Amino acid sequence: MGNVIKKLVIGLVAGGALFGITKALEFPTVFQMMFVAYALLGAAVFILLDAPSLKPLSGVKALGALLVFYVVLCVVYIAGASLWPQYDPEDEKGKIEKILKPKRAATEQGKADELLARAKALDEQAKALAERIKALGGDQATAAQGAGGLSAPPATTGAAGGDILKIGEDQWQLQECYNCHKLKGEGGKKRGPELDNIGSYLTVDDIKQKILDPKSWMAEGFEKEYEKKKMPDKYKDLMEEKDVVALATWLSTFKNTSVNTPKPIKK
Ligand code: HEC
Repeated sequence: MGNVIKKLVIGLVAGGALFGITKALEFPTVFQMMFVAYALLGAAVFILLDAPSLKPLSGVKALGALLVFYVVLCVVYIAGASLWPQYDPEDEKGKIEKILKPKRAATEQGKADELLARAKALDEQAKALAERIKALGGDQATAAQGAGGLSAPPATTGAAGGDILKIGEDQWQLQECYNCHKLKGEGGKKRGPELDNIGSYLTVDDIKQKILDPKSWMAEGFEKEYEKKKMPDKYKDLMEEKDVVALATWLSTFKNTSVNTPKPIKK
């Protein structure tokens, strides 16, 4: 009996020491418990060594004992194993799906963007061609007019105010600003600010500057996302000065304070 206690004490001390060491090494609690369990198991085997030896079994008795031992072992293992957290494939699938979903969405978005960009480039080419054809046709028309000796006064001068707004609106459509900006409730895919109240914040010159040099200043709330969703810096090449002015003038007439146009932040 004294021997048993001595061995048990050794087992407990070893278990305690392992508990302390694994804690110092920041093992998870489950592992700490396991180390203690191993130490106690070792002590138990150690103690069993002192047990008196069994009478030898033979024949049917031996077979029965073996079977009982086997059954006990099975029960212990199966019961023990079923106490552990179980692996659930649906669980794992859910986790994988969570990781993959945003990536898949990103590639699909990427493809869509690429297609959009391609469609847009083609559209621009078509428009440029249409413009050129129009210009050619227009020239012929004026030439014909001249030849006919008609001296019709250029209609533009009189109604300049109305016309500049019309040209501005046309430019909005032509340059496809609506792709990113919502105006009058139309367009914009949340990429750029809604512009219905832009006239309350910006002068014609400010808007002109923004179109020609979008990096010169930023709309509030877009400072950080700017890298990702920047306004294109191409209009200075695509647009003529008078068109920019017309567009800026037209935009400056939008003073709908019920729309939350972000304030411009100038450096
Ligand atoms: C590809 C998307 C995109 C297109 C196309 C685009 N913009 Fe923008 N625009 C933005 C984004 C994003 C911002 C906000 C960040 C910033 O200020 O640069 C912005 C900001 C602005 C602002 C300032 C708004 C504010 O509240 O201060 C104006 C004005 C503006 N754009 C006018 C235009 C005009 C005019 C066109 C067409 C010629 C145009 N944008 C085309 C994305 C775009």
